[in-house]
Amino acid sequence: MIRMERVLRRQQLDSSASKVRPVFGRVRSESLRGPAVRTPGDDRLRTLQRLLESGYGCTTSDGGRIRRRAPSAGGLYPTEVVCVVALEGHWTALAYDFHRRLFRELARIDRDIVTAVCAARDDQAIVVVTSTLWRTLQRYGFRGYRYCLLDAGIVMGTLAQVCGAERRTVTYPDNWSLAQIHESLGLPDSEIVACAAVVDCATAAAGDVEQHPDIVTGPAVWQQSPMLAAELERTIRLDRAMRVAESPHESLVPVAAAAEVPADLQDLLARRRSARGLRRGQLDYERCAPLFRAIGAALTDWPDRLRDSIVVGVAVRDEQTRVAAVRQAVPESVGVADIGHLSDSAVADLFGGQALMADADLFLIAGMRSDRAEDAVAMFRTCLLQIGLLTATLQLLAVRAEVGHTVVGGFDDERLSTVFGHTVTPLMAIAFGTATECTTKNDTLRRTS
Ligand SMILES: Cc1cc2nc3c(=O)[nH]c(=O)nc-3n(C[C@H](O)[C@H](O)[C@H](O)COP(=O)(O)O)c2cc1C
Repeated sequence: MIRMERVLRRQQLDSSASKVRPVFGRVRSESLRGPAVRTPGDDRLRTLQRLLESGYGCTTSDGGRIRRRAPSAGGLYPTEVVCVVALEGHWTALAYDFHRRLFRELARIDRDIVTAVCAARDDQAIVVVTSTLWRTLQRYGFRGYRYCLLDAGIVMGTLAQVCGAERRTVTYPDNWSLAQIHESLGLPDSEIVACAAVVDCATAAAGDVEQHPDIVTGPAVWQQSPMLAAELERTIRLDRAMRVAESPHESLVPVAAAAEVPADLQDLLARRRSARGLRRGQLDYERCAPLFRAIGAALTDWPDRLRDSIVVGVAVRDEQTRVAAVRQAVPESVGVADIGHLSDSAVADLFGGQALMADADLFLIAGMRSDRAEDAVAMFRTCLLQIGLLTATLQLLAVRAEVGHTVVGGFDDERLSTVFGHTVTPLMAIAFGTATECTTKNDTLRRTS
């Protein structure tokens, strides 16, 4: 039996030093992906390609190379995408290769599995978001599991935003169907299925959004995967156990739209970037109002079980009058903590010593309710994914409001939980403030001495 307290204790920042030591040059290469699909004329694939690239924030190609702009812990990008589509009469799982901008054939999928998930119409695709765990675990150890699910939730949330702006329907399969899809994909052990959505991929109305160039073909990708070191193995086992504990008929809950018009959304996606530096004491709290409203809408839309599990809180580091104003502005169920009395170093300590955080004015903290231990194992994955979905919306709203922000996964769980009277086990934070022109985060600056 998994004891959640023990699991979470293991995820404290001090235990995050990874024991996974992949020696990249020496381990055997493993082919994770199949041959390129050579049907570039297929309109649905073009549409899917555009949706996926937008969802992942690949809005610019930089000297022919595509850059992923979805936020990702440590910039490690564990999230990959597989689409199940009808191709020449067969339902086929296609992995999207973001680097070469092409689909690769992974596996044929039984039609019965597809019909268990959706109507299996040719204009539907099942978009499966997967996590290549080792990319993140090699750096963050066990804690990286959280980051992978948050990353996946954010990618899925952004994809839902793109679909919403184009009036495409998105539905989320329940946990049972997700497990069926997982089985049928035959992914390598080190790659887990995080979540999935059924997306309407009928061709977009012409002229709505600029189309990406043709799908190109290229050589197969060979990706190196380290040996399954202990931490990786344990994380995969934990993921399986948590999936078994999940309620089979539950699914993710859709998020509210951040933009109504596709071009508007594309503009937000193109401008999205985490703050590298913040300037303290200049946040215009009124600009945060749309973000607070989005949190209120999410809390209202969530079913009871989710609402009973996830806690959202705000910590304000400012004068008391400003704290009082934030209290007025946030939804009733969002707790507000006054951290105006904390020194710079005390704030940095909350976040594992990250100096950047000492310059933020407001922190949004999302986590699980600490007194719901009995439901924690069954809800852990769902909570992380759902927090990721909400984060995707909040980020885009922050871009529109020109509020500097950085998603933060690196914090001291125990200390941060103290700020909210131990009512929450924090899983993710977003630091808000006024962004400076900095190009590098101060905690990642190379030491010169
Ligand atoms: C789950 C998660 C955890 C993160 N944790 C931190 C963090 O602790 N500190 C930080 O400065 N940035 C953190 N980030 C932000 C990433 O550093 C940032 O997204 C990445 O460097 C890519 O930059 P970009 O968002 O500007 O594209 C996190 C992002 C995610 C999704």
